[in-house]
Amino acid sequence: MFAAASSILAADSASDEVHVRRATINDLDDVVALENASFASDRVSARQWRHHLESLSAEVLLAIRDRRVVGAAMLLFHRRHRVARLYSIAVDANERGRRLGERLLRAAELAAARRESRVLRLEVRADNASAQRLYERNGYRLIGERLGYYEDGATARRYEKALRRPYLIAVPSRAG
Ligand SMILES: CC(C)(COP(=O)(O)OP(=O)(O)OC[C@H]1O[C@@H](n2cnc3c(N)ncnc32)[C@H](O)[C@@H]1OP(=O)(O)O)[C@@H](O)C(=O)NCCC(=O)NCCS
Repeated sequence: MFAAASSILAADSASDEVHVRRATINDLDDVVALENASFASDRVSARQWRHHLESLSAEVLLAIRDRRVVGAAMLLFHRRHRVARLYSIAVDANERGRRLGERLLRAAELAAARRESRVLRLEVRADNASAQRLYERNGYRLIGERLGYYEDGATARRYEKALRRPYLIAVPSRAG
């Protein structure tokens, strides 16, 4: 698990000062603050975040700038199915428009592929056009809708993306 997290760091070492790392239980307060600032309803509660941060069937990734949590994404895994779910993704309001959502999305896809998921699925509010553009731009395909899915009765659009298997890097043998 630590190997996977450090690989994400390596794969995601972009030139700016934001990096992506796996969250731990020590990040609980920051993640909950971001959640509450980012969503008006259907929030993941502090108790649920704690559960997911400690669960083997979840993975939480953070975008960090100057040691501050500026974005978070939560993945859920099924024990038997190879379909991972992007349960939450949010970027600090002051940091939006800088493609951090995309960085988190890519890191989430890599993490899911490393856990042998073949597909990543998500739900998004039908009225959240900005998030839908983010997913469509990154290769997600609309697979359906769920009427009345959200607390306020809003419709969810369901998207999915087939994940590529992470490359295995061949180490050249010394012989020959
Ligand atoms: C959806 C979200 C994660 C995208 O993150 P992001 O890092 O801002 O993504 P991007 O940088 O790709 O920008 C998204 C859009 O906002 C625009 N934008 C530019 N500056 C912006 C700013 N200061 N504030 C908000 N949006 C801005 C971008 O141009 C882009 O336009 P587009 O919708 O035409 O693509 C983020 O908006 C967010 O946290 N929203 C609230 C939570 C949420 O809705 N999560 C998704 C649930 S499914």
